[in-house]
Amino acid sequence: MGNSGLALLALALVTLGTTAHRKCQLPGLWQNELGSLMEIHERSKDQELVGRYLTGVTATTNCIQQVLLQGSWHGPARRVLPTFGFIVTWEKFSNSTTAFVGQCFMDESGQETLRTTWLLWEEVESPKDDWKAIRVGTNVFTRRPNPGPGHILDIMTPSCELPPSEAQ
Ligand code: BTN
Repeated sequence: MGNSGLALLALALVTLGTTAHRKCQLPGLWQNELGSLMEIHERSKDQELVGRYLTGVTATTNCIQQVLLQGSWHGPARRVLPTFGFIVTWEKFSNSTTAFVGQCFMDESGQETLRTTWLLWEEVESPKDDWKAIRVGTNVFTRRPNPGPGHILDIMTPSCELPPSEAQ
C-alpha cells in the first residue's frame, strides 16, 4: 500500500472513530430547564429504559417525590442520534401521567441534549371533562455529572415529613 493508500486508511479510521464517539447515549443523569432531574439506566436487552424522575415543578400542592420512569430507545448500536420515549406515572404525589418522546442530539463539542415533547393527562371526574385533563409542552435535558446511582436524586428529593409541631 502506497502513501496515499495509508493516508486514506487513516482518514477512514479517524472518521469511523469520530462517528462511533459521537453516538448519543441515554443512560446517565439529566436535568431540564424546569430544574427536573432524571436518572436513566438501560436494561441489558430490547433497548428498554428504566430510571427515576424528580420533577422540579408540580401542578398540585403536594410534596414532590421521585418516581419511576419506563420506556425504550433505539440504542447506540442501531442509531447515532436515537429517538426514545418514556412514561412517568406520578403516583406518589399526583393523579397524572406524562409521556415524553424525543431525540438525543450531540453538538460538535460532544455535548449531548435530549429534546422532548411531553403530554400530561391529569385524572378528571368524567369523559366530558377531558378537555381540561391534558397539558402539552417541550423540555430540553442536558447531561449532568453523575457521582453514583441515585445519589443526586436522593440528595435533591425534598423531605415530605411534617415538622413535629404540625404532625398530628
Ligand atoms: C403533576 O403536577 O401532576 C405531576 C408532575 C408533572 C411535572 C411535569 S411533566 C412535564 C413537565 N416536565 C417536567 O420536568 N415537569 C413537568
